[in-house]
Amino acid sequence: MRTQVGIVGAGPAGLLLAHLLHRAGIDSVILEARSREYVENRIRAGVLEHTTEDILTAAGVGARMAAEGLPHRGIHLRFAGRDHRIDFTALTGRHVMVYSQHKVVQDLIAARIATGRPILFEAEDVAVHDIATDRPRVSFRHAGSAHQLHCDVIAGCDGFHGVCRPSIPAEALTLFDRVYPFAWLGILAEAAPACDELIYANHERGFALLSMRSPEIVRLYLQCAPDEDLEAWSDDRIWSELAARSAHEGFTLNQGPILQRGVTPMRSFVAEPMRHGRLFLAGDSAHIVPPTGAKGLNLAAADVAVLARALERFFRDGDQAGMDAYSATCLDRVWKAERFSWWMTSTLHRFADQSPFDRRVQLAELSFLAGSTAAATALAENYVGLPLNLA
Ligand code: APR
Ligand code: PHB
Repeated sequence: MRTQVGIVGAGPAGLLLAHLLHRAGIDSVILEARSREYVENRIRAGVLEHTTEDILTAAGVGARMAAEGLPHRGIHLRFAGRDHRIDFTALTGRHVMVYSQHKVVQDLIAARIATGRPILFEAEDVAVHDIATDRPRVSFRHAGSAHQLHCDVIAGCDGFHGVCRPSIPAEALTLFDRVYPFAWLGILAEAAPACDELIYANHERGFALLSMRSPEIVRLYLQCAPDEDLEAWSDDRIWSELAARSAHEGFTLNQGPILQRGVTPMRSFVAEPMRHGRLFLAGDSAHIVPPTGAKGLNLAAADVAVLARALERFFRDGDQAGMDAYSATCLDRVWKAERFSWWMTSTLHRFADQSPFDRRVQLAELSFLAGSTAAATALAENYVGLPLNLA
């Protein structure tokens, strides 16, 4: 089997890359370890930066997002008994789009299937070879037989636990890692959102986030221990903790049946550079952010927009300049999102080792955000998405 770009992983990064390449007349094969059903129903975050919304729209895969997505023009910060709205549109002229990541994945899979080009689910024993040469190859098993995929370029879009990043010699990579001493207990529930925008709450009992998926479905999170036992959380305990942490005068949290629950670990991670020879890493395979800034999917989309542009130059003109600049171009923006996600996380969570002084500084930071247009603008600019420069 032969293709121009072998893509490992059918998450948002791999699927969007395949689609952008197809539109540029570049052939690819996607290999995914899981089933179609699994990847289409995997619950993840649901906030799209305006840059991501623009990329999906321009690529012709934004129709359902435009119809079903909820444009949000601000968020609320709750702390010390106060509720302060950050008005994105007034501060930046932009909004974000609340639209589930699994719907983005469904839309991209439908677009891929419509092209008739290969997307192989349940691929086993995927391994990349000869990545330092200009004839890299992917070996895998599918439907009981062994295959070799010969490529010009391999895109490692296989997430944090994938096989591509570990195939790069350890001495060629520098890893930056921070694991946070807490996690998020997340639920999906059948209830109407109590507020039409997201609420981020810094509370004595810990952080809480009230998000949504639609006018009928909410997505709610509580800061918890990294090894939190879900069995210890009855529905009543979850609802009363959410109510306590989001309490505000005149505010009532709507409750309903809990459809799904889980614990999300919190980590910041970057691998540099994002390229080794003809292997390019994109999305979670190269970097992880804690979910507080809702940047994971957005960084993946930005990476592959840059990569698609670079590969277009390479396959059309034989020009390698875009490929050579790929890692540095992405990392400049990635580190800004890493900084923002770390800052949102640090500002909104309770830390077990936080001294009374640290706590006062944290609340002062929130009060400053509420009182300073400059500080609020910095948050808003980062949240709606920093500019993406596609050379
Ligand atoms: N072979 C083939 N596929 C693999 C392998 C492998 N060895 N290992 C992992 N995969 C697949 C996973 O099953 C998954 O479908 O790669 C895909 C990676 O997708 P994501 O984890 O969604 O990563 P990415 O596409 O970079 O998207 C980033 O997703 O993880 C969230 O929070 C993150 O929102 C962010 C976004
Ligand atoms: C979500 O809706 O899942 C969500 C929203 C905002 C975040 C993180 C997750 O910061």
